[in-house]
Amino acid sequence: MKLAASPKYKNGIKMMTQLVEKFKSLYGNEPLLFRSPGRINLIGEHTDYNDGFVLPAAIDKAVYVAIGMRQDDEIHLYSAEFNDRYTTSLQSVQPVQGWPTYVLGVVDQFQKNGLSVKGFNMVLDGDVPIGAGLSSSAAVECATAFALNEIFGFAIERMSLVKMAQKAEHEFAGVKCGIMDQFASMFGKKEHVIRLDCRSLEYEYFPLEMDEVKIVLLDTQVKHSLASSEYNVRRSQCEEGVAAIQQRYPSVKNLRDVTVDMLKECVTDGIVYNRCLYVIEENLRLKAACQDLLQHNLKSFGEKMFATHEGLSTLYEVSCKELDFLVGAVKSNSAVLGARMMGGGFGGCTINLVKKDAIDSLIEDVSVQYEQAMHKKLKAYIVQIENGTSKM
Ligand code: GLA
Repeated sequence: MKLAASPKYKNGIKMMTQLVEKFKSLYGNEPLLFRSPGRINLIGEHTDYNDGFVLPAAIDKAVYVAIGMRQDDEIHLYSAEFNDRYTTSLQSVQPVQGWPTYVLGVVDQFQKNGLSVKGFNMVLDGDVPIGAGLSSSAAVECATAFALNEIFGFAIERMSLVKMAQKAEHEFAGVKCGIMDQFASMFGKKEHVIRLDCRSLEYEYFPLEMDEVKIVLLDTQVKHSLASSEYNVRRSQCEEGVAAIQQRYPSVKNLRDVTVDMLKECVTDGIVYNRCLYVIEENLRLKAACQDLLQHNLKSFGEKMFATHEGLSTLYEVSCKELDFLVGAVKSNSAVLGARMMGGGFGGCTINLVKKDAIDSLIEDVSVQYEQAMHKKLKAYIVQIENGTSKM
């Protein structure tokens, strides 16, 4: 197999070569190879399942899968990252603990849609850090959906694959996630962020000018067990708010349709009020932030990221002490235009827009402070915005 030698995949080349070798040694033939990236989100957090807007991008860290058909009805999986194998048959696909569930969840969606997946072999690897809030699970789901679609020739369009990948997460991983992660992985475009309207699914690419700044992710290295259960709780609190508002405003379908005045008028529960207020404000912030991008005003954009963090921490309450510490540590640094926690919350990374020449010293300083205060090692990733899911 000839591997794309394009510099944009240089980090993945070694991994892909090993993936192919491993596939050949396990299954004895040549695979097809697919890549699906992790994602960042500039602004618009916890808005996707409220029919709002998000502004994600795919990154240069990805999941790679090597895949080939089998002659029987078995599924043979191997994860290089976990050095672990899993085998089942097409008739017994069901949720399991750990990494295979993201692959199996997608197979299940194909089956539920009446698409006759046949037996296949797969080897997976990747460099999306797991549990860091960069959507490694969505990357596995999208890589699987894209690969199955290709090898079995189903000709399903990308948006439908995104929806199937999202449903796999709901039904096999038990997280009632919105559509953002799978969408960003599948639809990413180099050097662009994507504004997605999560109601109509219309989207627009915005160039992100990165002449002076880079995107730096600071990884708390914590993943609280609350992450998936509290995520589903937030979702139902938003629905509770909507139900209260609908009693007076029946045309309201989702928080997308709600103003702060309507919220004040209808929602009496303090916690539900705060959750809804955050979402309403975040949608407004995102729209204004897109104007900032059009006006090349990254400073103003960055200020909105800090405001988002404040809302996520105090109103939506999905932050944690480590994330708050990292945002606090960079807030008064003039080289940092904006910073906030990113993704579902309760751990993972903060996303920071940092002036290029200050990145090294910033990482050094914050690492020392973080270790002193939180007694944990900090990890940092400088990420580039890359294309979405593809065949290699
Ligand atoms: C997780 C979910 C997404 C989104 C974010 C929060 O990443 O998978 O759908 O809701 O949290 O913005």
